[in-house]
Amino acid sequence: MYFLILLAFFASPALAWLPLEDWGSGNVTGSVGESGQCICQVFLPDTTFPADRVESLQISSNKLTVDVELHISKLISFKGKVEILLQELSNLTIRLEVVESGPDKYIKLDFELLRIELREFEALVTELKTSLNSSSPAFDSLYNEIRNMSMIVDQLESYDRSNLEVIRIEFTKLQKKLEKCRDEQDDFSNVQIGSCQHKGILRVGKPVVSQLNANLGTGYIYGGWGKDSHPLPGTENRYWYSAATTTVVRYMSVYSDYYKLIMRQAMKTYDLLSPKNWQGTGNNYIIRANTFYYQYASPFSMAKFNITSQTAEYRAVSGASSRFSYHYHANQNLDFAADESGLWVTYATEASKGKLVLGKIDEAAFALSEVWETSIFKQSVTNAFMICGVLYATRSVDTKTEEIFYAYDTQTRQENYVSLPFEKFQDSYVSLDYNPTDQKLYMYNNGYYVSYNVKFKTA
Ligand SMILES: *[C@@H]1O[C@H](CO)[C@@H](O)[C@H](O)[C@H]1NC(C)=O
Ligand SMILES: *[C@@H]1O[C@H](CO)[C@@H](O)[C@H](O)[C@H]1NC(C)=O
Ligand SMILES: *[C@@H]1O[C@H](CO)[C@@H](O)[C@H](O)[C@H]1NC(C)=O
Ligand SMILES: *[C@@H]1O[C@H](CO)[C@@H](O)[C@H](O)[C@H]1NC(C)=O
Ligand SMILES: *[C@@H]1O[C@H](CO)[C@@H](O)[C@H](O)[C@H]1NC(C)=O
Repeated sequence: MYFLILLAFFASPALAWLPLEDWGSGNVTGSVGESGQCICQVFLPDTTFPADRVESLQISSNKLTVDVELHISKLISFKGKVEILLQELSNLTIRLEVVESGPDKYIKLDFELLRIELREFEALVTELKTSLNSSSPAFDSLYNEIRNMSMIVDQLESYDRSNLEVIRIEFTKLQKKLEKCRDEQDDFSNVQIGSCQHKGILRVGKPVVSQLNANLGTGYIYGGWGKDSHPLPGTENRYWYSAATTTVVRYMSVYSDYYKLIMRQAMKTYDLLSPKNWQGTGNNYIIRANTFYYQYASPFSMAKFNITSQTAEYRAVSGASSRFSYHYHANQNLDFAADESGLWVTYATEASKGKLVLGKIDEAAFALSEVWETSIFKQSVTNAFMICGVLYATRSVDTKTEEIFYAYDTQTRQENYVSLPFEKFQDSYVSLDYNPTDQKLYMYNNGYYVSYNVKFKTA
């Protein structure tokens, strides 16, 4: 959505940047957040969904559908524009080469055309720069280079060969950079899905704020959302969501795809209190192989609710203490995670004096097969997740910034302090997890669905 919005700006340069175009009259509003994210909020006067208001909700929903489609079409149109831009640049380079090969033949007109086209190109990049809100260093330097090139053209009084050579070299460099920018926009991930042929996280992308939770309540700050990390065949597009106004874990909804999630049209909502009391707590659950893994409320243990069979069972985690939670909220004692290599749980023990312990879960046996002790104090950590057998832990930097500050490699048993800052949409959050099926991080940020792309170190 982040890119959708800035691209929409690009497609309609005449539009004002803030606020964004109407997301429907009435109580469906859209706006652009401080960091340029797209925020869509739907406010209903009453969250108990009285029957007489369902109709108006449906009208709002339809309006949203149309708007989402509109934005998707704008994204496609932006992609087309970048393609054309590259083609134009490539044409310019060719023309320069022609001019260069015959220094005696070229005429002043060619140079004038080049000057005009450079100006146009500069305007386009200025526009892109504005829509990116100066937040991309790549575009900043691109912008500077184009300005420099324009200046060079201006300064050219005698059209000699060496000047043209300079321009040609600059153009070629520019073209490469623009291509790089495009690649970053098209697909942030630089490693094949499922592959661990990388050296860990290079950086975390901008927060992509999908929207406010399906309960439409800003009080629903305890929750999570995401996709099954190892979906059963045919369920690859599904999303899940669960939240509450307390740390209790009771309802969990499944959506057939992203669109249904955004439209808040659940396929099914499961109730862990009825017919049997299988309630959980702590909100650091995940879904894997159509099974919901969560912290059981009582007795304190890890639990799994098999969505296929709709039955739950729980198992004590040896040594795990219910005394140590993450920094932001209480009850977050067991945190489930999944990566390319399977299912994991983190917790702290009295023996470890509250330091984070990582356990690998044997899914078939539903038991811990191996544990690793880290040297970080759980209460100073805001959350943790796994990628390719490496545990990453986060901490708070300030109200807008979070940082991955620690990595523990289970293969080498080596730990490292790192600094990989990333933007938060809201102050605090309860869940952050990586999903190996799309290499994204999913955060439930004070009631908002937020995701991040991850770029890996490849050399
Ligand atoms: C928005 O909601 C308020 C109640 O909160 C209501 O009075 C108003 O009519 C609604 N506006 C529209 C355009 O539906
Ligand atoms: C984006 O632009 C707005 C308005 O000019 C500004 O307040 C905000 O700080 C900018 N954000 C970034 C990340 O540059
Ligand atoms: C680039 O040059 C080719 C061949 O002259 C032309 O067909 C094409 O339309 C040009 N593209 C742009 C975007 O100017
Ligand atoms: C632009 O030109 C200035 C002055 O010649 C130079 O200092 C700067 O490095 C150039 N910037 C780029 C991006 O080429
Ligand atoms: C869930 O239940 C189904 C049907 O009984 C079974 O085939 C599957 O193995 C179970 N999954 C887990 C993870 O226990």
